[in-house]
Amino acid sequence: MPQIRSLSINGHELRLLHYAQVDSTQRIARGLPVGTVVIADSQTAGHGRYGREWVSPPGGLYTSIVLAPDPLLPLRAGVAVAEALSGCGIPARLKWPNDVTVDGKKIAGVLIEEADGTMILGIGVNLDRVPYPGATSVRAASGRVPAPEELLSRILRVLLAPTADDAILTRYRALCATLGKEVSVSIGRGLIRGRAVGIEPDGALIVSTAAGARRIASGECRHLYGRDTRSS
Ligand code: BTN
Repeated sequence: MPQIRSLSINGHELRLLHYAQVDSTQRIARGLPVGTVVIADSQTAGHGRYGREWVSPPGGLYTSIVLAPDPLLPLRAGVAVAEALSGCGIPARLKWPNDVTVDGKKIAGVLIEEADGTMILGIGVNLDRVPYPGATSVRAASGRVPAPEELLSRILRVLLAPTADDAILTRYRALCATLGKEVSVSIGRGLIRGRAVGIEPDGALIVSTAAGARRIASGECRHLYGRDTRSS
């Protein structure tokens, strides 16, 4: 059984369900009302984008937040996690669309799934442990580890602030390490290679290729040079 608490953040009344262990906070959150926040100390079947495993031992932040539909949520969520980490002294950046990185190494991931007219925003942050070589953690990046609920509350404060879309875009672009980089983006079975030159108001990535500019609404992006080469 979870511990249940009420939280009030920026005028939003939230219900926080805190579990010791679940299979996936995304599964628990499915079907629950908007304003529900599920957090678990560990997950036995955490998953990420493209059906990948999200290794979830104790010592990480694993949370799923049930939200009303918002087309800009992928960018808003990335900004919230990156700015919350910045508030902990970590120079976090974003790899399009919303992998959170430090010096090109992944520190947190964002997964958005739709269910029953709601959006379930899943966030995983490596706090105490580095789950695979090439990733990083809050401890590795800053030498200290906030309590998972402290970081969650920082994330929620940014996420639920009444911020206009154009302000989110400005903040997203400022945090986005992809802009200006040579990238390859997998879209279905295709691959687009070129220089990332812009983020559209709807969050799409603009890549300048040998054949002209391409607009990419969703896909998996790799930074071809530097240290941002791992995507999960
Ligand atoms: C990614 O980078 O691929 C996204 C990772 C999202 C992981 C989080 S952990 C909490 C929530 N529960 C899950 O099973 N996945 C998300």
